[in-house]
Amino acid sequence: MRINKFLASSGVASRRAADQMIIDGVVKINGRICSPGDDVNVGSDTVTVNGKPVNVVKKFDYYMMNKPKGYVCTVKDDKGRKTVMDLLPNNAKRLFPVGRLDYDTEGLLLLTNDGDLTYKLTHPKNEVPKTYLVKTEKPVSDEDVIKLRSGVYVDGVKTKKCNVHLIETNKSGSKLHITITEGRNRQVRKMFEAVNNCVDFLKRIKIGDLTLSGLNRGEIRQLSAREIDYLLNL
Ligand code: URA
Repeated sequence: MRINKFLASSGVASRRAADQMIIDGVVKINGRICSPGDDVNVGSDTVTVNGKPVNVVKKFDYYMMNKPKGYVCTVKDDKGRKTVMDLLPNNAKRLFPVGRLDYDTEGLLLLTNDGDLTYKLTHPKNEVPKTYLVKTEKPVSDEDVIKLRSGVYVDGVKTKKCNVHLIETNKSGSKLHITITEGRNRQVRKMFEAVNNCVDFLKRIKIGDLTLSGLNRGEIRQLSAREIDYLLNL
């Protein structure tokens, strides 16, 4: 098995984070620092990360969190801010977040130790739809909605076609649902900046068909067998 896939299936990190660990030289196979293309003989080779042995996990854990604002989606923050890991029960410390929500964004966040699922849900080629509830600082016009749907320039690259549904609008701002299939850095906020507006409130309410369904802010729960099955078969 390719070393990055092995690390992902061992619950160490997502496949992308595993690639970085390999580049950083902290991963060894049978005592030798490995390279990104190396293979592992599962069962006979010894793999270590920072000197600690790693084994393939047979059963993965899958959780959903209603992330509050004011938390970062990393395992550790170099600025000392609170991270979503601080909200996990003590027995769930080996999970990692699937993708990111900004510090100021709230809502649906998945956490797992299944690196392959993380890869599938976050890789742009898979175009997994994510839906956000947005409240803006200024009213959004019908022309803005058309522009957002067909694509606006964010960091010099046009965003892909997306669904935008204007729920209500008045002189102090608008409320919308937007469903995007990309996951670029601060994408929703930057899309509204591209139409000269500003996002006041941002909450992810859906990943594919998965919803928060009654989970309160800051709460976490295990996914049901049906939800896990749905994600694995996306
Ligand atoms: N888009 C953003 O701007 N922020 C998020 O956290 C997610 C999507």
